[in-house]
This record gives sequence, structure tokens and C-alpha cells, in this order.
Amino acid sequence: MMRFGLLLLLLVAPVPVYAADAERGAVVAEVRCLPCHHLHSQWKRIGPGLKDIYGRAPTIIGVPFEVWDDAALEAWLSGPRKIKPNTRMSMPPIAARDRADLIAYFKNDVGK
Ligand code: HEC
Repeated sequence: MMRFGLLLLLLVAPVPVYAADAERGAVVAEVRCLPCHHLHSQWKRIGPGLKDIYGRAPTIIGVPFEVWDDAALEAWLSGPRKIKPNTRMSMPPIAARDRADLIAYFKNDVGK
């Protein structure tokens, strides 16, 4: 009977779906992006300032995006050199979960 109950629990328990976490994304941004980018200003560091990056047009040349939306950021953060071979943005790969959290962070951070 116990075993049946456990089985039932497993069957009805919701499948854990990972939801992007903007707060975690803020930490990822501080670790992974802040060395080269201001996060809350347009001022250039190594790369352009990322203030309000979500939903605005790229300031850099050579990328095929009209705005930095989910798809554009996902593509760029998956490998900038795949999008723009001679870009100066070079960094170790970012895990899929970190990318999702980063995008959630930038999306929620607009206007700050
Ligand atoms: C090693 C330094 C470096 C790191 C680390 C880095 N970037 Fe960059 N980033 C750059 C440079 C340099 C450019 C300009 C690239 C070009 O002109 O091709 C850039 C450009 C960009 C752009 C285009 C901005 C615009 O105004 O169009 C975005 C978006 C971006 N980076 C996001 C990020 C994010 C998010 C992170 C953290 C996950 C990150 N970058 C980490 C150096 C870096």
C-alpha cells in the first residue's frame, strides 16, 4: 500500500519545469558580464554599456538583429563568434540555464 501511494505521488507530482530566474541572472551578470560591461549605464567599458539592452537596437555593427530580444540574446550569448566571427567579445561558454537567467534579468531590469 505504501508503495502504491509513492507511485501515485510520483505520477501526480508536477514535472519540474525550470523557470528562468531574474535574480539569479543578476548574479550571473555580475560575474560574467560586469568585467567588460557596465550593466546600468550606456558608458563603454570593454564593450558597450548594457543599460536597457533588452528590446533596444544593437549599437554594435555586424550583427543580424534588429533588437536585442530573447532570440537575439540567446544566439549572441550562445557564441558571439558564431554570429560575428571577428567580434572582440570573447568568453568561455555560458550554460543554458545561465543564459536563460541572464535574459530574464535583462528583461526585468529595463529602465533601471
Ligand atoms: C571579455 C569581455 C566581455 C565579456 C566578459 C562580455 N562581453 Fe559583451 N561585449 C564585449 C565587447 C568587446 C562587445 C562589442 C563586440 C563587437 O563590437 O563586436 C560586446 C558586445 C555585447 C553586446 C552588444 C551590445 C550592443 O549595444 O549592441 C551585448 C548584448 C553583450 N555584449 C552582452 C554581454 C553579456 C550579457 C555578457 C555576460 C554574459 C557579456 N556581454 C560579456 C565584451 C565582453
